[in-house]
Amino acid sequence: MTGRPVLATRNAHKLRELERMGVPAEPLPDGVELPPETGDSFAANALIKARAAAAATGRPALADDSGIGAEALGWAPGIRSARYAGEGATDEANLEKLRAQAPAGSRLRYTCALAWVDDNTEHVFTAHCHGVLGPERRGERGFGYDPVFHPDEHPERTMAELGDGEKDAISHRGRAARALAAWLSAG
Ligand code: IMP
Repeated sequence: MTGRPVLATRNAHKLRELERMGVPAEPLPDGVELPPETGDSFAANALIKARAAAAATGRPALADDSGIGAEALGWAPGIRSARYAGEGATDEANLEKLRAQAPAGSRLRYTCALAWVDDNTEHVFTAHCHGVLGPERRGERGFGYDPVFHPDEHPERTMAELGDGEKDAISHRGRAARALAAWLSAG
């Protein structure tokens, strides 16, 4: 397989974050259907999406499967983060459900699994970012659960109040992307 890798996502935020971290990826062409995420782990779901995108485009493919968990909820919603408040739920509804279910001060953990699929190579990089659930929503940057996530590295701010470079330096996606980039450049 040759050409720039495609990123198996319809989430423009993920594409933008990976782009600015130097992971070369192009949007998934219109018309390529992504299969349902039926895996039981972030890594399994990332591989399902990357395999489908590689098969449909004949190009190397990357996929990000990510989410959040609260210790107070046994690390739920986890792989169900995107549909926590129901199928097709908005980021807003998902975030409000997390606030309703877990008390402020709960330990939180973001996870990102980044899968690479090429002709005869499959590799998954998984990374975390740890933090605490804040008592109120703060900040306009980032996406998803960022307005209530206080990362351990900047406990006084939410992820949605950090600059792009600050988020990338500590985020689950930033850590996974750097591991992938190092592996690609070593290959
Ligand atoms: P996926 O697109 O199936 O991987 O679902 C990802 C879910 O986790 C969505 O609900 C996102 O909003 C959330 N999520 C993943 N990464 C982040 C992040 O960096 N910040 C905030 N929410 C995130």
